[in-house]
Amino acid sequence: RLPLLIDTDTGSDDAVALLLAAGSGAGDVRAVTTVAGNVPLATATRNALITLQLAGHADVPVHPGCERPLTRPPSTAQHVHGLDGMGDAGLPGPARGPADGHAVDVLLSLPSHHPGELTLVTLGPLTNVAAALLRDRELLTRFRHVYCMAGAADMYGNISPTAEFNVWADPEAARVVLQAATAGQVTWIGWDVSRRDAVMTPDDQRRLEELGTPLAVFAHRINRAVADWARDVTGLAGYDLPDPVAMAVALRPELVLESERAHVDVALGDETRGQLIIDHRRTAPPPNLTLVHRVDEQGFKRLLLDSCEHAPSA
Ligand code: BDR
Ligand code: CA
Repeated sequence: RLPLLIDTDTGSDDAVALLLAAGSGAGDVRAVTTVAGNVPLATATRNALITLQLAGHADVPVHPGCERPLTRPPSTAQHVHGLDGMGDAGLPGPARGPADGHAVDVLLSLPSHHPGELTLVTLGPLTNVAAALLRDRELLTRFRHVYCMAGAADMYGNISPTAEFNVWADPEAARVVLQAATAGQVTWIGWDVSRRDAVMTPDDQRRLEELGTPLAVFAHRINRAVADWARDVTGLAGYDLPDPVAMAVALRPELVLESERAHVDVALGDETRGQLIIDHRRTAPPPNLTLVHRVDEQGFKRLLLDSCEHAPSA
């Protein structure tokens, strides 16, 4: 099983990604770190604790991290995921609290104790990772691989016409990560991928609901607010699952159908904030990212349903 460190601003689709990691049998979640993003930090931490408990992994430590982006004021997406980030499902609080130790310290210390062993998966703004990189420039190389749900490589944005939320929320942090990244070490899976290959259609939702296991019911319930938002704002019948598809790629890289290596930067100016700048010139600097464009939709959905069917629950 793949040893994982997961950094997350846990809202509804982050929670499904945690279920995948903990429930598919393919992941061995060593620690979770939380960051402000879709929801404020305390809410993200609470949601991570609730989700791990439900998945039967109440032993996994959850370490809160940065409460705000490196330089910008915090912005949430509670209009998308619900005030509680979990579709306003009225979930009871977790039975335990967060672990001691700041997320940034954990991001620095865990991989240095197990060099090359852990895979880092980030599902929120890159603030914690950037703060850690400011203290250890080589940090990314200490992981086996780093997968980030970040960006919209084809400029199909969600928070603006051209930007994806995680990069937009803390673009300076994204730039710190991009400046330290190499294409062999870091893979980004963008929002565009989830809109093409990870949309839960009404049929998929029915299948999930009909499984009837505690995890399936939970996954269905917490995504109701996103489903309403996707229908009303984007005209989509169903909702997309950006964080779960990023997690699926980390757990099963063979699900990737199309990707490219490229040099990528991020725009910081007001009009284009958070937009990826992908350099396709022959004279471009060496690639710093592998950008995923397409994944195996059916393979992803099978992994998701299997995880919700077989995973142990508390
Ligand atoms: C990102 O923001 C949230 O909607 C999801 O959790 C994902 O991490 C997509 O832009
Ligand atoms: Ca997220």
